[in-house]
Amino acid sequence: MNERTTLSTGVTPRFSEEKLQEIEKIFQRYPADRRQSAVMPILHLAQREFGGWLSREALDYVAGLINMPPIRVYEVATFYTMYNLQPVGRYHVQACTNISCWLCGSDQVMDALKNKLKIGVGHTSEDKRFTLAEVECLGACVNAPMMQINDDYYENLTTDKVVEIIDRLP
Ligand code: FES
Repeated sequence: MNERTTLSTGVTPRFSEEKLQEIEKIFQRYPADRRQSAVMPILHLAQREFGGWLSREALDYVAGLINMPPIRVYEVATFYTMYNLQPVGRYHVQACTNISCWLCGSDQVMDALKNKLKIGVGHTSEDKRFTLAEVECLGACVNAPMMQINDDYYENLTTDKVVEIIDRLP
């Protein structure tokens, strides 16, 4: 199965009442007849709420909420790498290998990550602590090479710094 394939769990997740209210506020950012424009922020919220990734059932649930054909939601979710379509580890390590990072040593950074985490790109460690991903430009080229771990950016990386950062994670 490739990384951008949706995975089914057989269970449909649901937003809490509180999150449904949050979604109503998201809808208010868009014209009333353009509720489907909210697909990206709602997918983002779903990913946070439903364990860090979006199952086929989660995508269908979001499609129902915004009255959008499921295939259109799949198209969005499979296009953007920020949406995880398979479970990820507690730490989602995303290393940029795009041009600026590559010119500044992202190959070495990636090798250091693979060695330290003992997993390859697209894989999750057995203890479910780490998932390693290779991503396109994350907009921090000025401080290349860089990586993102969950919501945090780490920049001006060296192979030593990578090991230090991973060791410091709780
Ligand atoms: S190329 Fe890596 S952040 Fe832009």
